[in-house]
Amino acid sequence: MLDKITYFDNACMTLKPYQVIEAVNEYYEKYPVCGGSRSQHRLSNILGRKIEEGREAISELIGAERKEQIVFTKNTTEAVNLVAKGLGLGKGDTVLTTDKEHNSNTVPWILLRDDKGIKFDQVKTNDDGTFNLENFKESMNQSVELVSMIHTSNLDGTTTPAKEIGEIAHDYDALFLLDGAQSVPHKPVDVQDLDVDLLAFSVHKMLGPTGVGVLYGKEEVLERLTPLSAGGGSVKDSTYDSITLKDAPGKFEGGLQNYSALCGIKPAVDYLLDVGLEDIEQHEIELNRLATELLEDKVEVIGPHDPEKRSGIFNFRVKVLGCHEITVLLEEQDIITRGGMHCVHPWHRTRGELGGTRASFYLYNTEEEVKKFAQIFDDLLG
Ligand SMILES: Cc1ncc(COP(=O)(O)O)c(C=O)c1O
Repeated sequence: MLDKITYFDNACMTLKPYQVIEAVNEYYEKYPVCGGSRSQHRLSNILGRKIEEGREAISELIGAERKEQIVFTKNTTEAVNLVAKGLGLGKGDTVLTTDKEHNSNTVPWILLRDDKGIKFDQVKTNDDGTFNLENFKESMNQSVELVSMIHTSNLDGTTTPAKEIGEIAHDYDALFLLDGAQSVPHKPVDVQDLDVDLLAFSVHKMLGPTGVGVLYGKEEVLERLTPLSAGGGSVKDSTYDSITLKDAPGKFEGGLQNYSALCGIKPAVDYLLDVGLEDIEQHEIELNRLATELLEDKVEVIGPHDPEKRSGIFNFRVKVLGCHEITVLLEEQDIITRGGMHCVHPWHRTRGELGGTRASFYLYNTEEEVKKFAQIFDDLLG
């Protein structure tokens, strides 16, 4: 079925290479057991090695100093929630985001505002969707404890100047959490170069199995964070009166894990590195450039006009058709896109916008597919 389909919903979930599927199956066929340090038998030891190979691969991919700085979560959402629940923020503390965040970097802060009385503030982006550094500087003050911002937007593909944002956040002694869900899979991201304190992303958006995310943290920040879900595997010892938590990442990874998916991390990262993240980034921009050239007279593109600034995201509106109608029409021609607000509801609500149809490209998409996509609008709109 997949071979008939042009798949342009990569910002949500990517397809999986054979190597990843094979690694997942191998877990079930050869060592379908509990991993980590709990069981000491030989099958468990094989699995333990596979998990740590995945951790090492992610650590190298994002330039972490040590693999112990890589915490496995369910997804980006869980990684952000771990930070929201674990930092101990309360009254008098401000969390600052942009006004164009995915709900996963909005909802946890609203819940924390209602529960703990934090202040939740947003930096207004420019009308074309690009980040406004001046607005950011004006929003910063001593009460900001955490700057939590998107790196590349799932709405329009723009990328924030993360390094400068981090420097300014640190001038105010605030921590900097970067949402890398749409950057880590698509371009080189180096946590030491960007000097982020925390980075969240999802492995299922980068060729990996579904149900695995990552929270990277600087050592001292991971030490400060309390676990979101603690229990078996997250403590060194416990009595009825006290517990001794493990060091990171163990203290965050309580309970049996998504082992089959963890086994698929290394092959996914190897695949990305073999192709090369610079080349992936460039390929997506070229596809976006082609889509823009072919369609700019027929559709209204969301975000800056220059495709270089929109990475692999081509999100658009058509005056005479609703975003879901377009999605259905495209699907009838075997092209999978996504219509709606793309989990960026507040941005749409404040602008009175109903949403867009998003084509999001990845390394396996081709110019022929983009031409087929554009041709449909020629046929539809003349
Ligand atoms: C920018 C961004 N952040 C966070 C998320 C949430 O990712 P997940 O659903 O894997 O938690 C997404 C998902 O599309 C995203 O695009």
